[in-house]
Amino acid sequence: ESHPRIASSVSSFSVDTESLQKQIEELSTFSDTPAPSVTRILYTEKDLLARRYVKNIMGLSGLSVREDAVGNIFGRWDGYENKLAGVATGSHIDAIPYSGKYDGVVGVLGAIEAINVLKRSGFKPRRSLEVVLFTSEEPTRFGISCLGSRLLAGSEELNKALKTTTDNQNISFLEAARSLGYAKDQDDLSSVFLDKGSYSAFVELHIEQGPILEEEGISIGIVTAIAAPASLKVEFEGNGGHAGAVLMPNRNDAGLAAAELALAIEKHVLESGSIDTVGTVGILQLHPGAINSIPSKSHLEIDTRDIDAERRNLVIEKIHQSSIRIAKSRGVRLSEFLIINQDPPALSAEAIVKAMETAAAELNLTHKLMISRAYHDSLFMARVSPMGMVFIPCYKGYSHKPEEFASIQEISNGVKVLALTLAKLSLQ
Ligand code: GLV
Ligand code: MN
Ligand code: MN
Ligand code: MN
Repeated sequence: ESHPRIASSVSSFSVDTESLQKQIEELSTFSDTPAPSVTRILYTEKDLLARRYVKNIMGLSGLSVREDAVGNIFGRWDGYENKLAGVATGSHIDAIPYSGKYDGVVGVLGAIEAINVLKRSGFKPRRSLEVVLFTSEEPTRFGISCLGSRLLAGSEELNKALKTTTDNQNISFLEAARSLGYAKDQDDLSSVFLDKGSYSAFVELHIEQGPILEEEGISIGIVTAIAAPASLKVEFEGNGGHAGAVLMPNRNDAGLAAAELALAIEKHVLESGSIDTVGTVGILQLHPGAINSIPSKSHLEIDTRDIDAERRNLVIEKIHQSSIRIAKSRGVRLSEFLIINQDPPALSAEAIVKAMETAAAELNLTHKLMISRAYHDSLFMARVSPMGMVFIPCYKGYSHKPEEFASIQEISNGVKVLALTLAKLSLQ
């Protein structure tokens, strides 16, 4: 049931590809590492400049801009029934070390352009439309993923944890937030929590970060579910000592315990028997980190995910058992075993999937239903709003590395589907 007033304007949907491309390039220059890589870490100078840049573009698009206490940024286009719950869209602009310029950014700049598309087509929203820039989707600085959306979704646990969270330079979360003007005179961040029913729908545009759409030559992915991520922190402690003087039988090497655990993790993941179970040791640090000193401490950070939360939880349990066993057999202490997060998967809302499918069809774009193996702020927005995601193809599925690429044509297709989906949801 396509709405006549939007249907007639679909043919007039035009994306300003030149401006959008230019904005993506300009935003990528706010980086702490050289191009083509992008590194943009929460509450740094580059993050501040990038936020300013996006707020300015929101303003130029006629959106009214507001920020919350952790720096989630909202750009609102008032609907003619603006008392109704709004329809939101958005993503993140923080970038992990040495990553690319499209992850997250496409869903922020693309969302603002989707608003421009609707404005140029003459569309008038019934429900207000809101573009959200989420604070720290990536866990880089404080070890917490989807920090902004997790708080928006009302995580009391996170609100409490943030009072004492520090980065690896021992700068507290609150101090870092205050350096950008956020979290002023408040240690409690519950002001960020969204009321249930704030939004009638949330839709995120994102690059696929996998190879399927490109391989199959399909323009649009419509996400039906987001896999369940978990992250763990493990530390071993031994006696350390001189790399020449301490003989092998007399050692308890915390580094070797970490190495043994890393291999055990791979084994436990493979034991699940499902291709959907994955596990990664992305951080492995040794102390004191000298070639001629036996590691006295090791620190691992582990990411494991699955589309099936129970199967993933079994992997976590096995990692725990292996940590205990390895510590015992190597005579080191398991000084920390911390589950940082263990999030359940999220399902897209049927009505939003339907709206996205109809939008793609009306725009004559090929599309398929798929799951998201990466996590997104949508995982948390799903707790407070019906949720959906639009994927576009990216080169070879590359992401979280400098070679990440999506063509402006693919991005433009995604922007159109997003625009039309928002329009439909705004009238519902
Ligand atoms: C977030 O970027 C993820 O790791 O999926
Ligand atoms: Mn990412
Ligand atoms: Mn992302
Ligand atoms: Mn992600």
